[in-house]
Amino acid sequence: MARSPRGRGPVRRILLGVTGSIAAYKACLIVRGLVKAGCEVRCAATAHALKFVSPLTLAALSRAPVVTDFMDPAQWDMAHLSLASWAERVLVAPATADTLARLAAGRANGPIEATVLSTKAPVFLAPAMDTEMWEHPATRRNATVLEGFGYSLLGPVSGPLASGRVGMGRLMDPEEIVRRVLA
Ligand SMILES: Cc1cc2nc3c(=O)[nH]c(=O)nc-3n(C[C@H](O)[C@H](O)[C@H](O)COP(=O)(O)O)c2cc1C
Repeated sequence: MARSPRGRGPVRRILLGVTGSIAAYKACLIVRGLVKAGCEVRCAATAHALKFVSPLTLAALSRAPVVTDFMDPAQWDMAHLSLASWAERVLVAPATADTLARLAAGRANGPIEATVLSTKAPVFLAPAMDTEMWEHPATRRNATVLEGFGYSLLGPVSGPLASGRVGMGRLMDPEEIVRRVLA
Protein backbone atom coordinates (compact mmCIF):
# COMPACT_ATOMS: atom_id res chain seq x y z
CA MET A 1 0.00 0.00 0.00
CA ALA A 2 1.22 3.53 -0.75
CA ARG A 3 2.61 5.60 2.09
CA SER A 4 0.89 8.76 3.21
CA PRO A 5 2.51 11.91 1.76
CA ARG A 6 2.49 13.20 5.34
CA GLY A 7 4.65 10.27 6.42
CA ARG A 8 2.10 8.81 8.83
CA GLY A 9 1.72 5.29 7.46
CA PRO A 10 -0.42 4.07 4.61
CA VAL A 11 -2.67 6.32 2.55
CA ARG A 12 -5.95 6.55 4.42
CA ARG A 13 -7.95 9.62 3.44
CA ILE A 14 -9.69 9.31 0.10
CA LEU A 15 -12.13 11.71 -1.49
CA LEU A 16 -14.41 9.89 -3.93
CA GLY A 17 -16.25 12.06 -6.45
CA VAL A 18 -19.27 10.35 -8.02
CA THR A 19 -20.76 11.65 -11.27
CA GLY A 20 -23.87 10.94 -13.33
CA SER A 21 -23.11 7.69 -15.12
CA ILE A 22 -25.27 4.59 -15.13
CA ALA A 23 -22.21 3.03 -13.44
CA ALA A 24 -22.66 5.32 -10.39
CA TYR A 25 -24.03 2.43 -8.33
CA LYS A 26 -20.58 0.85 -8.57
CA ALA A 27 -19.26 3.78 -6.53
CA CYS A 28 -20.86 1.97 -3.57
CA LEU A 29 -18.57 -1.01 -4.18
CA ILE A 30 -15.58 1.32 -4.40
CA VAL A 31 -16.48 2.94 -1.08
CA ARG A 32 -16.85 -0.49 0.51
CA GLY A 33 -13.52 -1.63 -0.90
CA LEU A 34 -11.72 1.47 0.35
CA VAL A 35 -13.30 1.25 3.80
CA LYS A 36 -12.43 -2.46 3.97
CA ALA A 37 -8.83 -1.54 3.12
CA GLY A 38 -8.78 0.73 6.18
CA CYS A 39 -9.37 4.08 4.45
CA GLU A 40 -11.40 7.02 5.64
CA VAL A 41 -13.65 7.94 2.73
CA ARG A 42 -15.56 11.14 2.03
CA CYS A 43 -17.92 11.24 -0.94
CA ALA A 44 -18.91 14.17 -3.11
CA ALA A 45 -21.57 13.71 -5.75
CA THR A 46 -22.90 15.75 -8.66
CA ALA A 47 -26.61 16.47 -8.97
CA HIS A 48 -26.78 13.98 -11.83
CA ALA A 49 -24.98 11.31 -9.80
CA LEU A 50 -27.76 11.61 -7.21
CA LYS A 51 -30.27 10.54 -9.87
CA PHE A 52 -28.46 7.19 -9.96
CA VAL A 53 -27.31 6.62 -6.39
CA SER A 54 -28.69 7.94 -3.14
CA PRO A 55 -26.62 10.14 -0.83
CA LEU A 56 -27.95 8.01 2.04
CA THR A 57 -26.28 4.90 0.59
CA LEU A 58 -22.97 6.68 0.04
CA ALA A 59 -23.17 8.25 3.52
CA ALA A 60 -23.96 4.94 5.19
CA LEU A 61 -21.13 3.11 3.42
CA SER A 62 -18.58 5.89 3.97
CA ARG A 63 -19.89 6.67 7.47
CA ALA A 64 -19.79 10.38 6.63
CA PRO A 65 -22.11 13.01 5.14
CA VAL A 66 -21.95 13.37 1.36
CA VAL A 67 -20.94 16.71 -0.13
CA THR A 68 -23.39 17.68 -2.82
CA ASP A 69 -23.51 21.46 -2.77
CA PHE A 70 -20.74 23.74 -1.64
CA MET A 71 -23.16 26.67 -1.55
CA ASP A 72 -24.93 24.95 1.37
CA PRO A 73 -23.60 26.46 4.64
CA ALA A 74 -24.32 23.16 6.40
CA GLN A 75 -21.63 21.57 4.22
CA TRP A 76 -19.01 24.27 4.76
CA ASP A 77 -17.03 22.21 7.24
CA MET A 78 -16.44 19.78 4.36
CA ALA A 79 -16.10 22.48 1.70
CA HIS A 80 -13.82 22.06 -1.28
CA LEU A 81 -10.77 23.69 0.26
CA SER A 82 -10.80 21.57 3.42
CA LEU A 83 -11.52 18.44 1.39
CA ALA A 84 -8.71 19.31 -1.00
CA SER A 85 -6.18 19.46 1.82
CA TRP A 86 -7.75 16.60 3.81
CA ALA A 87 -7.56 14.10 0.94
CA GLU A 88 -4.44 12.03 0.34
CA ARG A 89 -5.93 10.75 -2.91
CA VAL A 90 -8.78 12.18 -4.99
CA LEU A 91 -10.68 9.65 -7.07
CA VAL A 92 -13.54 10.46 -9.45
CA ALA A 93 -15.39 7.22 -10.26
CA PRO A 94 -17.32 6.95 -12.38
CA ALA A 95 -16.23 10.04 -14.30
CA THR A 96 -18.67 11.10 -17.01
CA ALA A 97 -17.67 12.66 -20.34
CA ASP A 98 -19.13 15.94 -19.09
CA THR A 99 -17.14 15.89 -15.85
CA LEU A 100 -13.96 15.07 -17.79
CA ALA A 101 -14.69 18.07 -20.04
CA ARG A 102 -15.17 20.35 -17.05
CA LEU A 103 -12.00 19.12 -15.36
CA ALA A 104 -10.02 19.49 -18.59
CA ALA A 105 -11.31 23.07 -18.83
CA GLY A 106 -10.20 23.81 -15.26
CA ARG A 107 -13.77 24.50 -14.13
CA ALA A 108 -14.64 24.84 -10.44
CA ASN A 109 -18.43 24.85 -10.62
CA GLY A 110 -19.08 22.09 -8.07
CA PRO A 111 -17.43 20.39 -5.09
CA ILE A 112 -15.70 17.75 -7.21
CA GLU A 113 -14.28 20.17 -9.78
CA ALA A 114 -13.27 22.70 -7.14
CA THR A 115 -11.55 20.03 -5.05
CA VAL A 116 -9.66 18.63 -8.03
CA LEU A 117 -8.55 22.15 -8.91
CA SER A 118 -7.47 22.91 -5.34
CA THR A 119 -5.81 19.70 -4.21
CA LYS A 120 -2.14 18.81 -4.13
CA ALA A 121 -3.04 15.12 -3.76
CA PRO A 122 -2.74 12.67 -6.65
CA VAL A 123 -5.91 12.63 -8.77
CA PHE A 124 -7.36 9.46 -10.31
CA LEU A 125 -10.19 9.50 -12.86
CA ALA A 126 -12.15 6.39 -13.83
CA PRO A 127 -14.21 7.24 -16.93
CA ALA A 128 -17.39 5.36 -17.83
CA MET A 129 -19.45 6.09 -20.94
CA ASP A 130 -20.65 4.71 -24.25
CA THR A 131 -18.00 3.81 -26.78
CA GLU A 132 -18.99 6.69 -29.07
CA MET A 133 -18.60 9.23 -26.27
CA TRP A 134 -15.21 7.82 -25.29
CA GLU A 135 -13.98 7.76 -28.87
CA HIS A 136 -15.20 11.26 -29.77
CA PRO A 137 -12.29 13.60 -30.54
CA ALA A 138 -13.48 15.98 -27.80
CA THR A 139 -13.21 13.25 -25.15
CA ARG A 140 -9.91 12.02 -26.58
CA ARG A 141 -8.58 15.57 -26.36
CA ASN A 142 -9.90 15.97 -22.80
CA ALA A 143 -8.28 12.70 -21.73
CA THR A 144 -4.95 13.86 -23.17
CA VAL A 145 -5.26 17.23 -21.41
CA LEU A 146 -6.10 15.54 -18.09
CA GLU A 147 -3.12 13.20 -18.36
CA GLY A 148 -1.03 16.28 -19.14
CA PHE A 149 -2.14 17.72 -15.77
CA GLY A 150 -0.61 14.61 -14.18
CA TYR A 151 -3.91 12.90 -13.39
CA SER A 152 -4.06 9.11 -13.71
CA LEU A 153 -6.79 7.72 -15.94
CA LEU A 154 -8.03 4.34 -14.71
CA GLY A 155 -9.67 2.78 -17.76
CA PRO A 156 -12.19 2.70 -19.17
CA VAL A 157 -12.06 -0.95 -20.21
CA SER A 158 -13.73 -2.91 -22.97
CA GLY A 159 -16.72 -5.06 -22.04
CA PRO A 160 -20.51 -5.17 -21.81
CA LEU A 161 -22.05 -1.67 -21.62
CA ALA A 162 -25.37 -0.56 -20.14
CA SER A 163 -26.62 0.04 -23.69
CA GLY A 164 -26.47 -3.72 -24.29
CA ARG A 165 -23.52 -3.40 -26.62
CA VAL A 166 -19.99 -4.56 -26.00
CA GLY A 167 -17.12 -2.14 -26.41
CA MET A 168 -14.75 0.38 -24.84
CA GLY A 169 -16.20 2.65 -22.17
CA ARG A 170 -16.99 0.29 -19.31
CA LEU A 171 -15.93 1.39 -15.82
CA MET A 172 -12.82 -0.44 -14.66
CA ASP A 173 -13.65 -3.16 -12.16
CA PRO A 174 -14.22 -1.49 -8.73
CA GLU A 175 -11.75 -3.83 -7.00
CA GLU A 176 -9.09 -2.93 -9.55
CA ILE A 177 -9.83 0.79 -9.08
CA VAL A 178 -9.33 0.42 -5.32
CA ARG A 179 -6.12 -1.53 -5.87
CA ARG A 180 -4.71 1.11 -8.27
CA VAL A 181 -5.63 4.06 -6.04
CA LEU A 182 -3.93 2.46 -3.04
CA ALA A 183 -0.95 1.07 -4.99
C1 LIG B 1 -29.61 6.63 -18.08
C2 LIG B 1 -28.42 7.51 -18.32
C3 LIG B 1 -27.16 6.97 -18.26
C4 LIG B 1 -26.03 7.78 -18.49
N1 LIG B 1 -24.79 7.21 -18.42
C5 LIG B 1 -23.72 7.98 -18.70
C6 LIG B 1 -22.43 7.40 -18.67
O1 LIG B 1 -22.22 6.23 -18.35
N2 LIG B 1 -21.38 8.21 -18.97
C7 LIG B 1 -21.53 9.54 -19.31
O2 LIG B 1 -20.52 10.19 -19.58
N3 LIG B 1 -22.76 10.11 -19.31
C8 LIG B 1 -23.85 9.37 -19.02
N4 LIG B 1 -25.09 9.93 -19.03
C9 LIG B 1 -25.20 11.39 -19.31
C10 LIG B 1 -24.84 12.22 -18.08
O3 LIG B 1 -25.71 11.89 -17.00
C11 LIG B 1 -24.93 13.71 -18.41
O4 LIG B 1 -23.93 14.04 -19.37
C12 LIG B 1 -24.78 14.58 -17.18
O5 LIG B 1 -24.82 15.94 -17.59
C13 LIG B 1 -23.49 14.33 -16.44
O6 LIG B 1 -23.41 15.22 -15.35
P1 LIG B 1 -22.26 15.16 -14.26
O7 LIG B 1 -20.98 14.88 -15.00
O8 LIG B 1 -22.29 16.53 -13.67
O9 LIG B 1 -22.62 14.14 -13.26
C14 LIG B 1 -26.21 9.16 -18.79
C15 LIG B 1 -27.49 9.69 -18.81
C16 LIG B 1 -28.59 8.88 -18.58
C17 LIG B 1 -29.97 9.50 -18.61
